[in-house]
Amino acid sequence: MSAPNIETIVSLAKRRGFVYPSSEIYGGLGSAWDYGPLGVELANNVRAAWWRWMVYERDDIEGLDSSIILNRRVWKYSGHEETFTDPLVDCRECKTRLRADKLDDGKCPNCGSKNLTEPRPFNLMFQTHVGATAEDDPDALVYLRPETAQGIFINFLNVLNTSRRKLPFGVAQIGKSFRNEVTPGNFIFRTREFEQMEMEYFVRPGEDEQAHQEWVDACHQWFQDIGISRDNLRLYEQPKAELAHYAKRTVDIQYRFFPEREDQERNWDELMGIANRTDFDLRTHSKKPEDAEGKRLNSDSTEDLSYFDEQTKQRFYPYVIEPAAGVNRTVLALLMDAYSEKTNDKGETRVILKLHHSMAPIKVAVLPLAKNKPEIVGMAKAIKRSMQPLVRAVYDDTGGIGKLYARQDEIGTPFCVTVDHQSLEDEAVTVRDRDTWEQERVKVSDLPTYLLQRFSPGT
Ligand code: GAP
Repeated sequence: MSAPNIETIVSLAKRRGFVYPSSEIYGGLGSAWDYGPLGVELANNVRAAWWRWMVYERDDIEGLDSSIILNRRVWKYSGHEETFTDPLVDCRECKTRLRADKLDDGKCPNCGSKNLTEPRPFNLMFQTHVGATAEDDPDALVYLRPETAQGIFINFLNVLNTSRRKLPFGVAQIGKSFRNEVTPGNFIFRTREFEQMEMEYFVRPGEDEQAHQEWVDACHQWFQDIGISRDNLRLYEQPKAELAHYAKRTVDIQYRFFPEREDQERNWDELMGIANRTDFDLRTHSKKPEDAEGKRLNSDSTEDLSYFDEQTKQRFYPYVIEPAAGVNRTVLALLMDAYSEKTNDKGETRVILKLHHSMAPIKVAVLPLAKNKPEIVGMAKAIKRSMQPLVRAVYDDTGGIGKLYARQDEIGTPFCVTVDHQSLEDEAVTVRDRDTWEQERVKVSDLPTYLLQRFSPGT
């Protein structure tokens, strides 16, 4: 089967309760999406897998949860106030706003006109005001963070001192970021409110290039470990002209998000970026000694964010390697990658979401074969209750068994457990596998061990 396009996924996502258009009863809000009962489980599984991999399974990374609204000076010294811009043009004919760097042939994609304004920089940070002050009070102006990373840099000394770390070590954070994108779109691929999973890994200068390459390889593997096929992933080396102002080298992990596009180069887009940010951030946020003219380069910071190496007795600014992924793009890639169709012996085509078991929103569905038989219903509900401390399990009796299986296949539930008349006698149930549709009879007392053995690692 050919790869699904995003439209197929949008329709599945809405129909089955993964993702809904936001504010729909008021006509929607461009490119804002709400995660429904299954979407929130899937996104939680992504966050939990990333956190486990980044923080629990290593000995050199700590977690953090910093504020979304930070002191405005953070964004002054990080360079975002000045440079976090997209080149904006207006079409003089149809008034559409466009990103100049995304116009392939200098024509408005809406009306085809070439009558466009000159590009001008448009800052992507959302502004708001803190406190009960006038809207135009410049002292009250703040931004919603456009990346979680800065919250980590400004806490570098706090984490270093409270966790008594030595280089190399990292700080991981998951949280919302906001960018007033000029051209959001493609479902949850590019939105104005999104969620990042970022980790800043601090190393000695000179050890940065090797650490960078190791993180590129590790992240590439992680996406495969959560079930994304290697064929739909590729590494993209950002050319020098594309690098962010802080980066020495950046490698993107791209996913084949747009398989339907004719130009094969445009099939791919960014899922994650892994940047070597050098010592740019720790240096820029540091209270610096005066320069030759007696001028301090950062006149606002009260701290020096350098590191003292006990062994060499040297003080320096660590380099930073930053793996930065999006929760939402990971959810989209997982849905696209897992989508498959299968025809049953009646010739009906069914959607099967072959999600990695660890990502499946529901791990086990317990289904009674007859919902008018209290003993069967009671046994099925008791099995569901016995599963719930271990995994996300549901009980469903809202249709015939064929329909219930099809519904679970479509949302990616790895196993269905069916309680039938025979179960009342032999204390056994039928376990059906989502991918093979094979069924096996299992004793109820063996069920937890049986399922735990059949779940893929990491579930
Ligand atoms: N701190 C580095 C940084 O923010 P980025 O490449 O701009 O780097 C990292 O963002 C990841 O965040 C991207 O790879 C993408 O997955 C996600 N992301 C960025 N902008 C997004 C948007 N407008 N909508 C959804 N996800 C976004």
